[in-house]
Parts: sequence; C-alpha cells; structure tokens
Amino acid sequence: MINNNDNKDMVIWGDKYAIGIQLIDDQHKELFALTNELFRACLGGEKMQDSIFKETMGRMVEYVRFHFGAEQELLQRIKYPDYPEHKKQHDTLVRNILETVKEYNEGKKLVPNQFARILRDWILSHIAIYDKLYAAYIVTQKKKGLLSDKDING
Ligand SMILES: [Fe+2]
Repeated sequence: MINNNDNKDMVIWGDKYAIGIQLIDDQHKELFALTNELFRACLGGEKMQDSIFKETMGRMVEYVRFHFGAEQELLQRIKYPDYPEHKKQHDTLVRNILETVKEYNEGKKLVPNQFARILRDWILSHIAIYDKLYAAYIVTQKKKGLLSDKDING
C-alpha cells in the first residue's frame, strides 16, 4: 500500500476500529486500504479518475461481498441473536453500491469523491456500531463459557 496520507479523506487504521478477531480485523484493514485507493483515484484528472475509479470500484464490490460473507458465516456459527439485522445492514450497502456502480457505468454523472466519502462513513460507522456489538457479544459469551475460540475461528 502506498503511504500517501496527503488527502484528508484518507482513513487511517487505529486500535479503536479493532474488533478483536484477527480475521475480521485484517479484512477491515483491507477495506480501509481499498477506500483509500478510491480516494487516490479521485486525485487524478477526470479521464484518469474515471478509469481508476471504475477499476477500484470493481475490486471494492468484490471485496465487500467476500468480507460480508465471511462475517456472516462467523455470526451464524456463533449463533449471534441479531444476525438478521446485521445481515440486513450488509445487504443494504451491497445493493446501494451495486446500484451506484451500475448508474455510473451507464453514464450517470457522479462525484467520485462524494461517493467515496459516503462509503467511507458507512464502513466506519458500521464497524464502530454494529461490528462492535457482535464483538461485545462474543466477549460476554466467552466469559460465560458458552463460546470457545474454536467456535469463533471455525
Ligand atoms: Fe458487519
């Protein structure tokens, strides 16, 4: 990853985003890296911006789906009570991204920077609120002896 934090929109990973599950934290870091790539794509001229943005968006969609899949698998494995609500959050974001990408590919004007910001804010608040909720559930269940590392790591 190129370490170019000149852009004030860039996201920098910090412990406050950590969930405490290595696999998920690594995937969240990758989401941060992809978000920053999107912001970097916005720094170029319009033509550059367009091709890099499309290419990066493609990878972003793929990775978001992969990550949500992995997270949902974990939540089902640990029988997370709020799984349906969590999945709904994921589905809504994927639907929104796909819709935006489709419209963009069809020629709809879009301000890449604005879109990247919306995506960044969604990811940050999702991690800070909803992912932290299941992380807390895991800690509680572990304390009660109802979940083991094997349950968590599969
Ligand atoms: Fe999530």
